[in-house]
Amino acid sequence: MSESLLIAEGTKTEKYETLLLQIESVVSGEGDAIANMANVASMIHETFGFWWTGFYRVIDGELVLGPFQGPLACTRIKKGRGVCGTAWHEEKTQVVPDVELFPGHIACSSASRSEIVVPMIEDGEVVGVLDIDSAELNTFDEVDKENLEKVVEILLKG
Ligand code: SME
Repeated sequence: MSESLLIAEGTKTEKYETLLLQIESVVSGEGDAIANMANVASMIHETFGFWWTGFYRVIDGELVLGPFQGPLACTRIKKGRGVCGTAWHEEKTQVVPDVELFPGHIACSSASRSEIVVPMIEDGEVVGVLDIDSAELNTFDEVDKENLEKVVEILLKG
């Protein structure tokens, strides 16, 4: 496996294409979920320069902070709370154009302006979430949703 990340020039879709191929290559054959989440957080973060990129895992009925890139974050989140807890509860990706307009948003950082959270569903159960925060409003759209759902799919199949 190559240990340097290639970041495509061009559109967001082109960047995701290159990113997905590299994620596939990095996680295939590695069975350790934490190691894979750590590399995936880094690869997404470096490709797009987001504010915060990381994972929360469901442990004993709560979301617990996992591998991430970016500033210090909240350690535990309850089901149904904030954007992460809502993605878990509804089992659906949450695209939030303006976090201030999301009822119950948990502000780990006042610099975060928009957010996307993708639930990780294994055998019908949410086992964690991929959470990305941007320092700009309206960062995430359908292209991010589709591609980040693919990232989670690749991670879960290992
Ligand atoms: N904003 C999230 C909390 C996690 S941090 O953004 C890293 C939420 O409302 O669930």
